[in-house]
Amino acid sequence: MTMFKDLNHKVAVITGGSKGIGNAIALRFAEEEMDVVINYNSDAKGADDAVKAIEQHGGRAVAVQADISKEEDVKKLLDAAVDNFGGMDVWVNNAGMEIQEPTHKVPLKDWNKVIDINLTGVFLGTKAALNYWLDNDKPGNIINMSSVHERIPWPTFASYASAKGGVKLFTETTAMEYAPKNIRVNAIGPGAINTPINAKKFADPEQYKITQSMIPMLKIGEPEDVSDAAVWLASNQSKYVTGITLFVDGGMTLYSNFQGGRG
Ligand code: BGC
Repeated sequence: MTMFKDLNHKVAVITGGSKGIGNAIALRFAEEEMDVVINYNSDAKGADDAVKAIEQHGGRAVAVQADISKEEDVKKLLDAAVDNFGGMDVWVNNAGMEIQEPTHKVPLKDWNKVIDINLTGVFLGTKAALNYWLDNDKPGNIINMSSVHERIPWPTFASYASAKGGVKLFTETTAMEYAPKNIRVNAIGPGAINTPINAKKFADPEQYKITQSMIPMLKIGEPEDVSDAAVWLASNQSKYVTGITLFVDGGMTLYSNFQGGRG
């Protein structure tokens, strides 16, 4: 359904756009008749399927093999947008991963991997996008996928929480730095969402119930809840908004332990 006319024929790059939240955003953008570049790491077939689904939703799409923690790969995503669709208007730094380990046991290579994908990847995507808009004297719009864990500490996920805390201040800093250039930078902070990252955990009914009970709305979110927020941030309807994290979490960030007057 086309709701945001200004998005028609705009071009977006969405990292991690073949699965989960990134894929929901790609499909939602396609409904606005946007053109979309997604990347994949190793699953070429999955990316191919995602491209077909995006096309069925009304957009054009290309998938590019790229490791978003490598600067030359990130550049390939920008080039794909410009070469295939004639420009780039919206950049979504979505790709992310998490590894659970007690902090005193985290191997340095795991720490580096989580920081590389969740934080350095956001920096590299942002850098590529900013340079494109500045060189071409164009306005720009960046959406970073943060998490409720940019605010909520998460024992045994120190690398992930640290990366997301970094994404928060990176978003605010770059929003301020480039606001005079008509470039907006915002983040989305999803809570517990039904995505591949959570598939294993939520397959356990006990764990599913525990997570549900931590959400004031008492339900796990869907990727479409997040893509509805993303399309608003991408559109002109949010034209005076920059530097925020828009939490899409059913109230998870509201200190749910205090529900009903406990405490
Ligand atoms: C994580 C999920 C987790 C949720 C709430 C998200 O950022 O990716 O695994 O369920 O935060 O804790």
